[in-house]
Amino acid sequence: MERTFVMVKPDGVQRGVIGSIINRFEQKGFKLNAIKLMSIDHALAEEHYRDLRMKPFFGELVDYLTSGSVCAMIWEGPNAVANARALIGKTNPVEASPGTIRGDYAMDVASNIVHGSDSPESARREIGLFFDQELPMNPIMGFMQGEP
Ligand code: PPS
Repeated sequence: MERTFVMVKPDGVQRGVIGSIINRFEQKGFKLNAIKLMSIDHALAEEHYRDLRMKPFFGELVDYLTSGSVCAMIWEGPNAVANARALIGKTNPVEASPGTIRGDYAMDVASNIVHGSDSPESARREIGLFFDQELPMNPIMGFMQGEP
């Protein structure tokens, strides 16, 4: 059992596709562990994307993430990180296959609607950045907090 961090970015929230994206994760078999609508300040956006700080598009990426509300989520399931990346599709929507979220909902790499952690280590780091306290594993698939 694994957890991953997924975020509907401001363009996804503004276009009203949070529900459609949640639906795809549920259809695939993921279990929702935590969700919140929030705004991000520059410090959090810069920390979230700290590995990209030398990229020429870093400033644009931070401005984009802080331009409106995002929907932060923790999803869990077997191989959650890799399964979520497959569901989301390639970073550049031009290359994302139809049937993936970016393939179906996005056209531009600078506003590609959704983020998914790229490794279990990134998932742990990003969950820690966005959620103060994780909920216990979904009782259907995991265990309840406090059980031995
Ligand atoms: S890279 O360059 O390979 O390290 O980047 P990549 O892993 O493909 O993408 C990491 C995140 O950067 C975003 N990105 C961009 N934003 C704005 N403009 C441009 N040109 C651009 N290229 C990549 C991309 O959407 C990724 O965001 P997340 O949220 O991590 O998916």
